Amino acid sequence: MEIIIQPTTEAAVSVAARIIARLLHDKPDAVLGLATGSTPLPLYQALIAMNLDWSKVTTFNLDEYIGLPRAHPQSYHSFMWENLFQHINIPKENVHIPDGHAPDIPKFCSDYEIKIHEAGGIDLQLLGIGTDGHIGFNEPTSSLTSRTRIKTLTQQTCADNARFFGSEREVPHHVITMGIGTIMEARQILLLAFGCQKARAVAEAIEGPITSMNPASVLQMHQTAKVCLDEAAAAKLQRADYFRWVYDHKPEWQDF
Ligand code: F6R
Repeated sequence: MEIIIQPTTEAAVSVAARIIARLLHDKPDAVLGLATGSTPLPLYQALIAMNLDWSKVTTFNLDEYIGLPRAHPQSYHSFMWENLFQHINIPKENVHIPDGHAPDIPKFCSDYEIKIHEAGGIDLQLLGIGTDGHIGFNEPTSSLTSRTRIKTLTQQTCADNARFFGSEREVPHHVITMGIGTIMEARQILLLAFGCQKARAVAEAIEGPITSMNPASVLQMHQTAKVCLDEAAAAKLQRADYFRWVYDHKPEWQDF
């Protein structure tokens, strides 16, 4: 894993935006795996401001709540269109977001896997991390080889996400999420984490054992996973000084 610690969230976002801009420059028809939530919001704003060409890009979102109509303000469909897609030139047919209203959800999930495969696989998967270490909505104890499927959120995730809804009672308990095996097949992974509330999950994922109790720890097995952190999210890393040193001494040819 490449751990990139930046002094501020803004600086970490700018590194992440550069990584994605570089990919779209090198591969205009790239396939991106996208995330929702608070973490990617400033990144999406940065990408919109960069005026990149998304006309050949294909996207697959990680997850969606089951039971929320697409038009619900908290559905991940609404989130993605409001915060990214309506501001860029991506063709509508290139956008894929799990359908929490599909009549046959298990079939939808296996079809989603097929669509990712048919698109050539994901070039870069963007991830946030839950306070319990989840990636996508793969909660602790998820199989590390899981595929797209239905998951039940933990009480902690429902409580964390209550801030987007009127109350915790309104947070759907069930979701569709890409599996950990699906995520691990992406050619590049870029995990972002900002703020002190993520520090423990981040430290366990990077420096702890690989365990389904912290699903993000599986990224230790990925060959090209980058983790972009602000200082607050990096606060519990024992080797933070080493990670900073490595980044500051990156050879020019390794830069993005
Ligand atoms: C969202 C997703 C989740 C979030 C995680 C962190 O698509 O896959 O894993 O990335 O719950 O959420 P925020 O960024 O709101 O703290």
